Amino acid sequence: MVYKLVLIDACFDPLSYYFFLNPHSIVNKKIHGIKNLVIFATSNSSYNHRQTMKLYKANIIFTREKDHFEVVEHGYVGVENGRVVDVASSADAFDQQPEEIIDYGDRLLIPAMNDMHVHAGQYRNQGISMDMELLEWLNNYTFPEEAKFSDTRYARRMYSRFVHDLWRFGTMRTATFATTHLESTRLLMELFREAGMGAMVGKVNMDCNSIDALLESVDEAVAANEALIAEWNDPDGLVRPIITPRFIPSCSSAMLRACGEQAQKYQVPVQSHLSENLGEIALVRELEPESRFYGDAYDRYGLFGQTPTIMAHCVFSEGEELELMRRRNVMVAHCPTSNINLITGIAPIRSFLDNGIKVGLGSDISGGHDMSIMRVMVYAIQQSKLYNQKYRDKHFLSLSEAFWIATKSAGSFFGRVGSFEPGYEFDALVIDDSSLNYGNYTLTQRLERFIYVGDDRHIAVRFCRGQEIPEPRILD
Ligand code: GUN
Ligand code: FE
Repeated sequence: MVYKLVLIDACFDPLSYYFFLNPHSIVNKKIHGIKNLVIFATSNSSYNHRQTMKLYKANIIFTREKDHFEVVEHGYVGVENGRVVDVASSADAFDQQPEEIIDYGDRLLIPAMNDMHVHAGQYRNQGISMDMELLEWLNNYTFPEEAKFSDTRYARRMYSRFVHDLWRFGTMRTATFATTHLESTRLLMELFREAGMGAMVGKVNMDCNSIDALLESVDEAVAANEALIAEWNDPDGLVRPIITPRFIPSCSSAMLRACGEQAQKYQVPVQSHLSENLGEIALVRELEPESRFYGDAYDRYGLFGQTPTIMAHCVFSEGEELELMRRRNVMVAHCPTSNINLITGIAPIRSFLDNGIKVGLGSDISGGHDMSIMRVMVYAIQQSKLYNQKYRDKHFLSLSEAFWIATKSAGSFFGRVGSFEPGYEFDALVIDDSSLNYGNYTLTQRLERFIYVGDDRHIAVRFCRGQEIPEPRILD
């Protein structure tokens, strides 16, 4: 009979590794420096796993498809190595014994939120200065604020609050713009890493049509991007760089070309703005006369789906532009609050869905004023209703569609994120809606009430990639 010795509990100092690799020598060795050594002898040829699956018990709600919710009342989510094993209505349905069952009672358990477009460098301007259209707004309010991030002490104060607010509202993955400043961008990435939250962070690249304090040369931009890629571009990393040419009017052809080349050379994703504002679109037509449409300008520089790409707004995208986005799998970051605040317009979200274009939601702080993706869902639904008033053939968004967009659809940009299907990373929120739940509501009505009238006070626990995420520090 062949016995297998399996070390199932020990501190992994070099000595215990030695024992692990050489089990036969254990009997002859003194066991120094090993705490809690437990050795299993088994004749079973299959490896005898340590029990590492946890079961989380609660009222589980998520969207596999956009048209309806999956609801398991008092169900279980099995989680192992940060990923969902399965969802079931009984603990007995799982093949393996759980290490632990964590019972959240009558609370709701839902996938965590993803913010697909936000400007960390505009955090201070959240909720102010929304009395102009895009181009004037950038020049008068936004560029001067972003210039302050040359000061890393200022960046520390603002960025720690920014990360804290994302945490507060249950946003566990973010695609964010920082500013043009390398050191501050690094700092933001460190803060995300410290928090344990997922983020694609873009050092903004721009070399024209802005204030001097924000302009950089192409060489400077390339060197800074290169540094961040060298430091952070681990494909499995929770915090990663994303190439971020601000938008066509902020970038020379040389800058756009360099960004596209770097994205492809290092296989790094891309984010930018597209077809947001009529004045902006007219300017792009002037700046890029050879391009047939705005998205074509990005495409010519390798910035339109050659690597995974997010384009924010797309309020005026139609026809060929939409078709190219579908073909290239470009994700729209739909930003309904910003689209109203900057007097932009209502994006045709139903057309995005009908055309098979990927969509996520963005708070777009500080064009947008609300960091809660739950609230952004509500604005997205309300605006689609206004759109439906005008164009009767475009049906408004349902709650499950908005939820799916914010969770599973958006989450696809980060891998298998945003659902509780087997293999998905366990990014989740435990919702304690007891103060809202006094009227004999169904579980989906309870979720709807949390989304419409709840807030961060109802989020009891947050998980990212299977880890419970404690409150991040606010720094001064
Ligand atoms: N287009 C270029 N820069 C920006 C920005 O900071 N916010 C928004 N909403 N649109 C932009
Ligand atoms: Fe934006």
